[in-house]
Amino acid sequence: MTTDARANDARAMRRLHVITWGCQMNVYDSARMQDVLAPLGYAPTDRAEDADMVILNTCHIRENASEKVFSELGRLRPLKQVRPGMIFAVAGCVAQAEGREIVARAPFVDIVMGPQTYHRLPEMVARAARAAGAVIETEFPAESKFDHLPESAAPAISAFLTIQEGCDKFCSFCVVPYTRGAEASRPMPAVLAEARQLVAGGAREIVLLGQNVNAWHGDLGNGRSGGLGRLIRELAAIPGLLRLRYTTSHPRDMDADLIAAHREVPGLVPFLHLPVQSGSDRVLAAMNRGHTADHYRRLAERLRAARPDLALSTDIIAGHPGETEADHQATLALIRDVGFAQAFSFKYSPRPGTPAAGAPAQIAEVEKDRRLADIQVLLRDQQADFNRGCAGKVIKVLFTGQGRHRGQVAGRSPWLQPVHMTGPASVIGTETAVRIIEGRPNSLAAEPLPQTEELACA
Ligand code: 5AD
Ligand code: SF4
Repeated sequence: MTTDARANDARAMRRLHVITWGCQMNVYDSARMQDVLAPLGYAPTDRAEDADMVILNTCHIRENASEKVFSELGRLRPLKQVRPGMIFAVAGCVAQAEGREIVARAPFVDIVMGPQTYHRLPEMVARAARAAGAVIETEFPAESKFDHLPESAAPAISAFLTIQEGCDKFCSFCVVPYTRGAEASRPMPAVLAEARQLVAGGAREIVLLGQNVNAWHGDLGNGRSGGLGRLIRELAAIPGLLRLRYTTSHPRDMDADLIAAHREVPGLVPFLHLPVQSGSDRVLAAMNRGHTADHYRRLAERLRAARPDLALSTDIIAGHPGETEADHQATLALIRDVGFAQAFSFKYSPRPGTPAAGAPAQIAEVEKDRRLADIQVLLRDQQADFNRGCAGKVIKVLFTGQGRHRGQVAGRSPWLQPVHMTGPASVIGTETAVRIIEGRPNSLAAEPLPQTEELACA
């Protein structure tokens, strides 16, 4: 290489720092933004100080989301004073919902882009270099971003794959239908092609993502259309793929074929995140969830009948407008009846533009705090019990990397619990039977099996 060529190369080399908030779909989007920018010479860096471009991939689902973005921008701003050529981009749902306000309050931001537009990033970067003001892309474009994305760089052992975006359910409290748009499924051939490519690159688990992933529906190629159960069966047939998961689901879209897939597809993990939000029929109706508490209880029973070792996870909201003490008690009763291995719970947070935000019977903050605390004590106990119950069992763990300590490997159980084990690095990338020696509140400790037992279990 000549000196000139080397100098050009050094100039072409740029650094990209991405900060991600929110759900796994944002984690997936951030990875794909890195893929889109790689051909322009952008390599990832962990340090904003070293970056030529910083992307803030934001989440709008609960309160303070935009304030967090503005405070992060305030923290980053001095970097731009030192390096005026630096590009600041705000992506994701806050960008979608509050694009104009971002530019007004933080005029040093160069790019504001909604979640459907990041395939246009190279063009936006070029425009930002020329433009005096910010480049704003928050329309929902006619073309799908998925048709314009490059193949992903080396996938992880557990890889995300977005198969569906947006939502038509319009729950009273939720911004997703407004920020991510209408429900749209990716076609089956595109999903299968991306899955094959992930597995060829070393992925052993695929996590199917969507705001409403079990609303996925597609053309099966024979003139008939099918749902997620069908897609899962097709994906499970890919050689080398050991595990499949999907998130996040709506109880109304758990159809009989999807439940049957839990019985029939061994690689579909016995773990399901199925948000219920409340255990009160009054509140579920006010939330526009379209089902009752008993419908959810029956669904849990049907899933466990199909796959007896299935564990459930959920989302709960404390203090939706109009929620009474009796409603709150009904939520606690549902949690006790169903029993969750893991869960997320939140204080209701009014989101501008959603129906619940304008409802008259808002619940006082202290009351929401108390109800949330009740819920969290119960959920924490259920999770701890579930983890303790794993002690002594032999289970298959998908090992995904080194653990925190020397000589340790880390992975996930079929129920998504983090597992740590002192053991050989050769297990990384494999699903290996191990013995659980301790079930801790948030993780499991394991030990390798003697060779003979390993064979017996395989
Ligand atoms: N307030 C509190 N929690 C919310 N969620 C969504 N919107 C709100 C809100 N306005 C929760 C729901 C959802 C999860 C992703 O976030 O429980 O399932
Ligand atoms: Fe939001 Fe989920 Fe309801 Fe859709 S189904 S509106 S994403 S909470």
